[in-house]
Amino acid sequence: MTTLHDPTIRSFASDNYSGVHPEVLAALAAANDGHQIAYGEDLYTERLQHVFARHFGDDAQAFPVFNGTGANVTGLQSMLPRWGAVVAASTAHINVDEGGAPEKVAGIKILNVPTDDGKLTPELVDREAWGWGDEHRAQPLVVSITQSTELGTLYTPDEIRALADHAHARGMRLHLDGARLSNAAAALDLPIRAFTLDAGVDVVSAGGTKNGALAAEAIVVLDPAASAGLPFLRKLNMQLSSKMRFVSAQLIALYEDDLYLRNARHANAMAARLRSAVEGGLADGSIVGVRFSQPTQANGVFAILPDGVADRLRESFRFYDWDASKNEVRWMCSFDTTESDVDAFVAELSRLTRG
Ligand SMILES: Cc1ncc(COP(=O)(O)O)c(C=O)c1O
Repeated sequence: MTTLHDPTIRSFASDNYSGVHPEVLAALAAANDGHQIAYGEDLYTERLQHVFARHFGDDAQAFPVFNGTGANVTGLQSMLPRWGAVVAASTAHINVDEGGAPEKVAGIKILNVPTDDGKLTPELVDREAWGWGDEHRAQPLVVSITQSTELGTLYTPDEIRALADHAHARGMRLHLDGARLSNAAAALDLPIRAFTLDAGVDVVSAGGTKNGALAAEAIVVLDPAASAGLPFLRKLNMQLSSKMRFVSAQLIALYEDDLYLRNARHANAMAARLRSAVEGGLADGSIVGVRFSQPTQANGVFAILPDGVADRLRESFRFYDWDASKNEVRWMCSFDTTESDVDAFVAELSRLTRG
């Protein structure tokens, strides 16, 4: 097969636009020869349990899956009875970007709460965490948070601990969507366990794809009492890989040593470079009329652009509108974003905002 696309075309649309990290590709090749037992009884999936035990504790059980929606939906389903509901930020991926799969596939009601920055607090949880025992209300039994959030913001370990304590005191469980878990670890400069296991999280969706894998995520159960039936639910939800060794090998490549951190640190650094270059441009007048709508704490930059600039900038670089009614856009950096990608983007932004 010949290459069909032009690799010099760069974008700031999504960390999913990037390719596969060469060390992940090498891991796939290393796992490739010969035969291994299918459906997860292979040596790579066994090794992955040990790798994840270092990040999530000795009791952690990892269930590799193909994608983040599958991890979230299946993990949450294992935490809830038929009548259960999940309290989540209104911007949560499970609420707005999973095609209704939590509702349609898992039968879960999502009780969503508006936030300023994509982060729940105990007070915000309480807006929807009520009505236990009322048969007319879906029962709020899980709180789901995202780390780093869909708005590029971060929870501190103390903030997560406060949410876990609050949820547990009400008989609820805490789920963490960690599609960008590595970006959070890199930004906080903390081990993953500091804001998951040690902060009281019960079940995690551990990301791989956005940080250099091909198609690899995992549901990681930190407290076995918080989840039931996962092997069956994963199959029912069509997330059981027959050749699981290749999903596990990708996650081993990322999480066994420090590839997850190297990639995430780089993506975060590129977002910081982008933000500070735009701030510098605003200060010296080479960029005009741009405002930031969120702090840049991980690998996403959220900005409000002058009228018409987004579409003209998109002629050179793809990126998504976040809230078109406000001219708000999202610029994402990934493990393979380069300094020259950022510099070229900022130069074009400068040209367009002055013109
Ligand atoms: C916060 C969050 N969770 C989960 C996902 C996973 O989605 P997918 O099913 O596309 O892998 C994404 C991807 O955009 C995400 O941003």
